[in-house]
Amino acid sequence: MRILVCLSLFLMSSAQAETNVAFPPDYRQWTHVKSMLIEPGHALYEAFGGLHHLYANATAMQGYRRGGTFPEGSVIAFDLLAAQSGGHSVIEGERKVLGLMKKDSKRFVETGGWGFEAYAGGDPKKPLVGDKAAQACYACHTAREQDDFVFSSWRD
Ligand code: HEC
Repeated sequence: MRILVCLSLFLMSSAQAETNVAFPPDYRQWTHVKSMLIEPGHALYEAFGGLHHLYANATAMQGYRRGGTFPEGSVIAFDLLAAQSGGHSVIEGERKVLGLMKKDSKRFVETGGWGFEAYAGGDPKKPLVGDKAAQACYACHTAREQDDFVFSSWRD
């Protein structure tokens, strides 16, 4: 009996495999760090074209404010929306993807101490990255190794 309970618990936990970074339902309440519009013709248009906003949780804000390394538990969100232009203005369209970085140095030794995950359309049930983080995300973020792998910086 005890074996059966253990087995079913194991099966349940492997069925709901942990994602690299859990979907943070409240990220729109975090601090807005910056926004950027990536237009057609930009080298990263295929992957990141559109209008993105970056948000930092309170722990990540300590990292942004002091510069250098980010404390354990820092989470930064990359909220990418389609950009709709017309009438000499650009407005937010549908959410394309929610990208996330979470600092957990023990768990993510291979990727600079950061876990990388992305949710298609901002849907918590659609994680995209999984075991592809090193190639899909970290490889490019290594360009900012001196800034703890974070590209953006804080402005007042
Ligand atoms: C080709 C390079 C490249 C790849 C690949 C890439 N990123 Fe980024 N990432 C950037 C750049 C450049 C920025 C800064 C954007 C800005 O300043 O608005 C950024 C910013 C971020 C941020 C905000 C923190 C920061 O570094 O400024 C997060 C979170 C993020 N990316 C997650 C991801 C995830 C998750 C993946 C993989 C699915 C990924 N990135 C793949 C280039 C990349």
